[in-house]
Amino acid sequence: MAQNVQYAGRMIKPTNGVVRIAALSDIHYSKTSAGAMAPLFSEIAEAADVLLLGGDLTDYGAPEEARVLAKDLAQVKIPVVAVLGNHDFESDQQDELARIFGDVGVHMLDGDTWEFRGVGFAGIRGFCGGFGRGALGPWGEKIIKAFVHEAVEEALKLEAALARLESQHRIVLMHYAPIRETVEGEPLEIFPFLGSSRLEDPLSRFQVTAVFHGHAHKGAPEGKTQTGIPVFNVAHAVLKHNYPDRPAFRLFEVQTGDSTEPGVTPIVDRRQYGRRSSDRAEGGISS
Ligand SMILES: [Fe+2]
Ligand SMILES: [Fe+2]
Repeated sequence: MAQNVQYAGRMIKPTNGVVRIAALSDIHYSKTSAGAMAPLFSEIAEAADVLLLGGDLTDYGAPEEARVLAKDLAQVKIPVVAVLGNHDFESDQQDELARIFGDVGVHMLDGDTWEFRGVGFAGIRGFCGGFGRGALGPWGEKIIKAFVHEAVEEALKLEAALARLESQHRIVLMHYAPIRETVEGEPLEIFPFLGSSRLEDPLSRFQVTAVFHGHAHKGAPEGKTQTGIPVFNVAHAVLKHNYPDRPAFRLFEVQTGDSTEPGVTPIVDRRQYGRRSSDRAEGGISS
């Protein structure tokens, strides 16, 4: 159970029936990053019950880089749940990376699930291909079909994972964006390489509570699926840019047990962001 701590100027108290989730992505650890995030990880472990890492854990997907990060993650006192990102595939050593992180207790999700105190987590890397009417279709050359197939496969993996979760809340972690809204801010020309609408379908079908992703370093921090599911882009660069006065992670509360509270609530700093009566945003989204 987390102890009383400060997060962005607010006192956090441990409460029954609440799971606190810290989310962060795209930390891009290199061979020389030893200890770089250790103070932040300690802060997270004090404030949250679970840490989600949304891929691009390493810069070049090198096992050496993964071992540097694994050493820092081994010190984190709360459960860590992670997916790999495209950078983690760069050296074609992704299985080795997953093993290195798994060896220090990280729950690596690749179409897998993990449950914690009534909250179920499903994770995939995801893939790209574009959004809405601009999404690439499986037509023409074999290589185009293979490209589209990859996104379809990832969506199917997610769907199968969500079907296995029987928890009250279902939280999804992925690297690529499932909606366009959270990549806005990036150059329009690269939108199709930042995510895929095909990843959105399973979210709505299984009434997911919230989605966390990264990859779009210049994207927007928050958006919603067509059915109103909150989507958070927690790429490290996005958090640094949008919330320069907060620690570089986002913190959320999920009400469990008999609570009728809506899904996921971001914890924000009342003083800093001018909130008057409550730190909570009904429905899960706040600025
Ligand atoms: Fe990245
Ligand atoms: Fe990425």
